[in-house]
Amino acid sequence: MFNVDRRTFIQTIAAGGALLAAGKPAFSAEMAHRAASEATPDFKPDVEIELAAAPGELPLLSGATTHVWQFKGKAVRGDPSSFQMLPGSALPVIHVRNGQKLRIHFANHLDEDSIVHWHGLHLPHRMDGHPMYAIRPGQRFVYEFRVDNRAGTYWFHPHPHGRTGEQVYRGLAGLFIVSDDEEKAAALPSAEFDLAWVLQDRLFDRNNQLVYARNMMERMQGFLGDRVLINGQADFVQPVGTTAYRVRLLNGSNSRIYKLAWDDGRPLTVIGNDGGLLERPLQRPYVTLAPAERVELWMDFSDRSVGDQITLRSLPFNAGMSMMGGSAMANGSAFPVLRVRVDRKLAKPRALPAKLSNISRYRLEDAVNRISPRTFSPAMGMGQVSLNGRRFDKMDEVAENEIVKLNTLEVWELANDASMMMMAHPIHVHNLQFQVVQRKADPRFAGAYETLGAGFIDEGWKDVVLVMPGERVKLLMKFTDYTGLYLYHCHILEHEDMGMMRNYLVQA
Ligand code: C2O
Ligand code: CU
Ligand code: CU
Repeated sequence: MFNVDRRTFIQTIAAGGALLAAGKPAFSAEMAHRAASEATPDFKPDVEIELAAAPGELPLLSGATTHVWQFKGKAVRGDPSSFQMLPGSALPVIHVRNGQKLRIHFANHLDEDSIVHWHGLHLPHRMDGHPMYAIRPGQRFVYEFRVDNRAGTYWFHPHPHGRTGEQVYRGLAGLFIVSDDEEKAAALPSAEFDLAWVLQDRLFDRNNQLVYARNMMERMQGFLGDRVLINGQADFVQPVGTTAYRVRLLNGSNSRIYKLAWDDGRPLTVIGNDGGLLERPLQRPYVTLAPAERVELWMDFSDRSVGDQITLRSLPFNAGMSMMGGSAMANGSAFPVLRVRVDRKLAKPRALPAKLSNISRYRLEDAVNRISPRTFSPAMGMGQVSLNGRRFDKMDEVAENEIVKLNTLEVWELANDASMMMMAHPIHVHNLQFQVVQRKADPRFAGAYETLGAGFIDEGWKDVVLVMPGERVKLLMKFTDYTGLYLYHCHILEHEDMGMMRNYLVQA
């Protein structure tokens, strides 16, 4: 019981402390860890998972193995398949159903602080992996929550302040897949016909070791590798049969944007994105996938022949800024992403359903601040980054215009037009899925916009949106169920670590 009281206590100060923004931290992270290191006896999980972050060695390239950091784990209660590794990879997949109760014991076996964030999930403040809860080497953090998200492809990654970029880069990331009844009714390809591809770029030295952000320039533009790994594998080839697949793609790269297209010019069929299935399938000549975004594609290979090979490529585009002395493979360069090889004949697939799911649309006129949207401006210059002129430096700081009311619908405008240095920023909001209602491109940057804009999937539910140079994007979002501090930030992980991140506070 001591434990429970302690938690309530911590929660109260975590939320209330934020109001004392100007001064001293109102509570110590120390207290937070201690409160979170034990399970609550009256919480009865359907699924219980042990998850550890630890150093490891992987044969990523031919020759020497690569030192990495990895998530390892297992399901210790409930369906053992709730925790698996992606086939042939070191990336874990947590697969659960909406409504299930989860307990996850996270153990930090790194030699630096860490904490896990469940990207895209709607959770109480204390379960969200806010950096204020980062635990030290050797410590544990126990997460307990009920899954409250529609079916979709979410993910998880570390979130300790200042170290997120490097921890993800070294290998700490996993998929968090939620299923539900609505998705089941859509009868999409499942089991071996439900694939996942995690796209990440890496830079290796001559000894096959990972190289990470060596200088200010590489942090300012966002770190870029020159090799693309799919599910941790170089030169990835996906064997398929002559049938239809559901493929979930996650851009797990620190800062690379992909402009995905088939090399034979066939359009892509999009069926889902960040927050699950779209209402109906969309066809696009190419799909733009910014860091942390997900997209689900329907891929029908039934008219292909055994032996066919098809390459998924990233096409060239103009990302706005490119810096001198940057990566060998700048954002916007063209490169092959992966190959699909048709290796067996299978029965003809069932047709793609015309209706996939129901999405109720928020209406701009229902937003409490429809007259004067909150505006957030990411900016860069002089070796610094900011959001509305502020940086993330105190764990519990919020400004006046970062306090919202529980159970209200708001419109937020992301305005990428107030910066000395212009580049595209993928902006992410914790705690909810939002809807994109408007993009206002700046004619001065039309050149950049036109090379990527047709690939934006703004339909459905989103938790990351790419805001192009000069662009203003309006989002509608509703703050439900939980009060407390949540983050919003640029998902170029180097920008996030440098402080292009802020808290917002949901108040009762
Ligand atoms: Cu995926 Cu706060 O991030
Ligand atoms: Cu997140
Ligand atoms: Cu950014």
